[in-house]
Amino acid sequence: MSKNLRAPGGCNPSANPTFEEILSRRQFLGAGVGAAALAVLPGCATQGTRPVISFTPISPSAEDLFRVPPEYEAKVLFRWGDPVGIAGAMPEFRMDGSNSAADQAVQAGQHHDGMHYFPIDGSRHGLLAMNHEYLDEGLLFPDGMKTWSAEKVLKAQNAVGVSVIEVSLKGNQWEVVRPSKYARRITARTPCRVSGPAAGHPLMRTAADPEGRTVLGTYNGCAHGWTPWGTYLTCEENWHNQFVNAATITPEQQRYRLSARGRGYRWHEHDERFDAARHPNEFNRFGWVVEIDPFDPASTPVKRTSMGRIKHEGAACSIGADGRLSFYSGDDEAFEYIYKFVTSKPWNPSNRVANRDLLDEGTLYAARFNADGTGDWLPLRGPEALIYARAAADAAGATKCDRAEWVVPHPVTREVYAALTNSAERKATDAANPRGPNPFGHILRWREESDTRFRWEVFALAGPAGKNTIKGDAFACPDGLWIDSMGTLWVQTDISPTALGKGDFAALGNNQALAVDPASGVFRRFLTGPRGCEITAFHTTPDNRTAFVNVQHPGETPGDRSDPSRPNAFSNWPDFAPNGRPRSATVAIRRKDGGIIGT
Ligand code: FEO
Ligand code: CA
Ligand code: CA
Repeated sequence: MSKNLRAPGGCNPSANPTFEEILSRRQFLGAGVGAAALAVLPGCATQGTRPVISFTPISPSAEDLFRVPPEYEAKVLFRWGDPVGIAGAMPEFRMDGSNSAADQAVQAGQHHDGMHYFPIDGSRHGLLAMNHEYLDEGLLFPDGMKTWSAEKVLKAQNAVGVSVIEVSLKGNQWEVVRPSKYARRITARTPCRVSGPAAGHPLMRTAADPEGRTVLGTYNGCAHGWTPWGTYLTCEENWHNQFVNAATITPEQQRYRLSARGRGYRWHEHDERFDAARHPNEFNRFGWVVEIDPFDPASTPVKRTSMGRIKHEGAACSIGADGRLSFYSGDDEAFEYIYKFVTSKPWNPSNRVANRDLLDEGTLYAARFNADGTGDWLPLRGPEALIYARAAADAAGATKCDRAEWVVPHPVTREVYAALTNSAERKATDAANPRGPNPFGHILRWREESDTRFRWEVFALAGPAGKNTIKGDAFACPDGLWIDSMGTLWVQTDISPTALGKGDFAALGNNQALAVDPASGVFRRFLTGPRGCEITAFHTTPDNRTAFVNVQHPGETPGDRSDPSRPNAFSNWPDFAPNGRPRSATVAIRRKDGGIIGT
């Protein structure tokens, strides 16, 4: 999600140090930042991997186009409103936004984000599961929010959640298989089971669900996660925006930034569970990691409370030497924390079913960065520490970060890379967060030394030329991260539409994706997106010959929602239809010769 859709200012009242305070203490101790510090971790990210980055780097662009190097081709695969492919239920998209709520329940949602490829037949045939993060009602409805109704709330709730589609490579072109027995939409109304330590806790019980074990829906999944047994993790990020509380907001609700009006979604007007004054515990039932089996469309998604309730930006998996799994999450809000969940038991590679409830037992940690370059994982224990994980991390002394977005472990070296997009939301008057803003973001990396100990460094300070520590092509506001099977780190950006094209950001053009060899630290620009979009979910097949990527919110307005009378005022990608509207979409990228992505 881009910054302009957030209320300003942080909501962390603790006196814990900010990352910038830690960094300035570290510099005072004589350690540099950026390239000079890379030697702290000798031999980084080369063990068993050989990135080859030899494509023709492209220039920045402000055009309303999706651009790749000349030796590549990109095909739009799956747009908002395209049918997922459920037999007998494949309504076509109507370019005027007039599809019904029932149509939207079987079509791609809006605002594609985190995505994962699950092989059926290697790298030529598989499933794509993806998040539909949030909404632009100015595009979703012909008249925007001018009128409001139960049908509109239902369509909005059906336009978020998750899609599962079947995809197949024909020649050098990917296609969506329709109909498909796997095709599925999960929405803000799909029943989900609550599992793990907080299931059934009094704070999770509501009038509609006195057991506290079944929640309707998952939404605002942003980055994603995965498990080695082939399940998808959707990670609820800015779920607070749909809730309102016009009465007294408790400190526990304030800690997750509940407000009187939310972000104006108006769901509560026709679905009263989103009125937290009437149903306070419903607010506790979002903010979780939700496990989905993409191979079983009849399966019930499971909210894994062991992984804590935050504004989860992903849950990327690292397999330990002993077979136990670690999952990393940023909590994407200014001055929030980075988290890790470690399973108690190893996973079972030979029996998929045996892993069914592996994610219910383990330890959640929050990160503390120390000025000497070490770090500590601080355990947060007990059901209330999971439900109110931010408060538990406050008390434990975690380090306030600059909006942690994707956090991904290297599959071989297990080094971890974290994109911190910026902290420009900070106000100078915010007494708890007094330091100046970090408008361009940075990428951190660390190496785990044990469950509770790590060593960290700054991999790159982002920003325009002259204001960064980037070797190679410049970028700002890193968000999505992916490490492919060659060991190449792919960085995707999300400069908000309020900043795109302006001031220091002008030379960087539209949002983009870059490739970097972790050993050399040299960035090369690989793609640029259309106007107003963010680039996210860059993801490669196991053979590294296809990259799937999501273009989210092309044409997003610098203000808030699109003007329904001018839906294509900022972008008309990807259809460029007369009287068209921009549509988030999945794009499949191949080398024209079918070769390795990155070469
Ligand atoms: Fe949904 Fe943190 O971006
Ligand atoms: Ca972002
Ligand atoms: Ca993001």
